Amino acid sequence: MDKIRKYVKAKLSLEPTGHDFYHAERVAQMAQKIYVLENKIVDQSSLKIIIASSYLHDTIDAKITAEIEETKAEITALLQDDYTSAEIKAIFAIIEKMSYSKNLAKKQKLTIEGQIVQDADRLDALGAIGIARAFAFGGKNNNLIYDPDMPPRLKLTEKDYKSKNSTTVNHFYEKLFKLEDLMNTQTGQKIAHERTKYMKKFLDEFLTEWYLYKEDD
Ligand code: ADP
Ligand code: NI
Repeated sequence: MDKIRKYVKAKLSLEPTGHDFYHAERVAQMAQKIYVLENKIVDQSSLKIIIASSYLHDTIDAKITAEIEETKAEITALLQDDYTSAEIKAIFAIIEKMSYSKNLAKKQKLTIEGQIVQDADRLDALGAIGIARAFAFGGKNNNLIYDPDMPPRLKLTEKDYKSKNSTTVNHFYEKLFKLEDLMNTQTGQKIAHERTKYMKKFLDEFLTEWYLYKEDD
C-alpha cells in the first residue's frame, strides 16, 4: 500500500480543488470503515481493492489530469507486482465508473467494493470538510460564493454540471444535498444524513448573515 500512497502523494499533493492526497486518504479510511461495519467477514482481496481504488480514484479524472491514458498505464505498472490481473481489472472498473458526473449521464453498475468507495468519496463532499472543499473548488474555478440573482439549477445534464457556471452555494443545492439519497450503503446513508444536516445549518447561518440588511429596510 505504501507504493500506492507514494504514487498518489506525488500526483495529487499540490491539487488545489479539494482532490488532494488527503482527500484520497480520507476516502480510503472511510471506505474501510464502511466495509468493516457492513461485512461480518473481512475478505482481504475485497479490502485491497477498496483501499487501492480509494487512493487512486481521482488520479484518472479529467478534472485532474489531461493524461488519462498515460496515467492508466502507470497505475497498471504500479499494481502489477502486488495485485492479480483480476484485482487490477476490478480496481479500474471502480475508478472509471464511480464519478458523479458519469453517473448523471447514465447510472453505472458498480461492484459492492465500488459502491463502498463511491459512498466514501461522496461523504467527503459533505460535512465541514465538504463545505471547505466546495469553496476551494469554486474559488479555483472562478465561481462566486453566492449570487442572489442566480437561482440553483435543480435539473442538470452532465454538460450543465460540467459547465461550472454556477455559484458554490448553488452547488450545495445542485449536487451536495442530493447525495444523502444516493448512498449505496446504510452506513453511508447514516453518516451522509448527519453531515447534510450540518451543512444545512451552515447555509441557514450563511443566508441569515447575507440577508441581515433586509431587516434595516
Ligand atoms: P465527481 O468526481 O464524483 O464527478 P466532482 O468532481 O464533481 O464529483 O466533485 C468532487 C467535489 O468537488 C465535490 O464534492 C465538490 O466539493 C467539488 N465540486 C464539484 N463541482 C463543484 C462546483 N461547481 N462548485 C463547488 N464545488 C464543486
Ligand atoms: Ni474524490
